[in-house]
Amino acid sequence: MKKKYKILTLVGSRKGPASNTLQFCMLSLETLQIQCPEIIIQTEILTADQWRIAACKSCGICFQSGRCIQEQQDDIGKIKEKMLCADLIIMASPVYAGTVSGDMKILIDRLSSWLHTMPLIGKNAVVLSTADSNHGEGAISYMRQILEYMGAVVLCQKNAFIHYGPIRLGDSNSMKPVLEEISKLVKYSMDKPVMPTAGQEDYFKMQSRLYERYRQFGQKYPAFRVAEEQIWEQQGYFDAASMAELVEKRRKNHGKMLV
Ligand SMILES: Cc1cc2nc3c(=O)[nH]c(=O)nc-3n(C[C@H](O)[C@H](O)[C@H](O)COP(=O)(O)O)c2cc1C
Repeated sequence: MKKKYKILTLVGSRKGPASNTLQFCMLSLETLQIQCPEIIIQTEILTADQWRIAACKSCGICFQSGRCIQEQQDDIGKIKEKMLCADLIIMASPVYAGTVSGDMKILIDRLSSWLHTMPLIGKNAVVLSTADSNHGEGAISYMRQILEYMGAVVLCQKNAFIHYGPIRLGDSNSMKPVLEEISKLVKYSMDKPVMPTAGQEDYFKMQSRLYERYRQFGQKYPAFRVAEEQIWEQQGYFDAASMAELVEKRRKNHGKMLV
């Protein structure tokens, strides 16, 4: 039986089918499927015009309770669920004024508590962007950093330019090696687990020290125990010596949180 591999692609452009960024994602997915004929690649692609996500209200309740109070009113809960069910997440955005689009930023803001609870440990990600002629690096570096804080292993980050630049979306000669590299890295990660970066391990250690303090405080004053610290406890983060150890455990659980 052929192995199945689920990819969720989130595109922060409202241009729907006319989106350059969507086109970059489609080319990457098509190349991947050609390179992996032995795998059934199940893809779901969402562009920003297809989701309804309100801006964060800055109440901070997600950090205390583990849930966003707006979750029932818009699509963030559904998108979170889809992210948690995917083997690979492609996060893609057009460059707007040097960074990600507003839609992508709102989506990321609404996932802020994930920077503390790291539910993407055990998942792989690819980061893509398109820009007319400059600042491609700004958007992809930002998305990479965010996904890494959430625990994902980012296999690669690539920007394609539209009008001017070394890699242009409309120029198949410059795109071919980029698309092949993306496929090669994703294919490799299907067989051999790729481990978190040294930077992610440092982040994990820093967070461990912080949540250990919260735990001690919670033991002394149980009424003030916050949900994030309980998630750390449930997920076994306190007992893990490294993020890599958690990646191994989550992979055995098909990348899902250990509930
Ligand atoms: C509001 C806005 C800001 C933009 N800012 C930049 C920019 O800083 N640098 C750049 O090279 N292109 C910029 N662009 C161009 C887009 O990044 C580029 O056309 C992109 O491919 C659009 O992607 P889409 O078709 O997926 O929406 C901007 C476009 C818009 C609409």
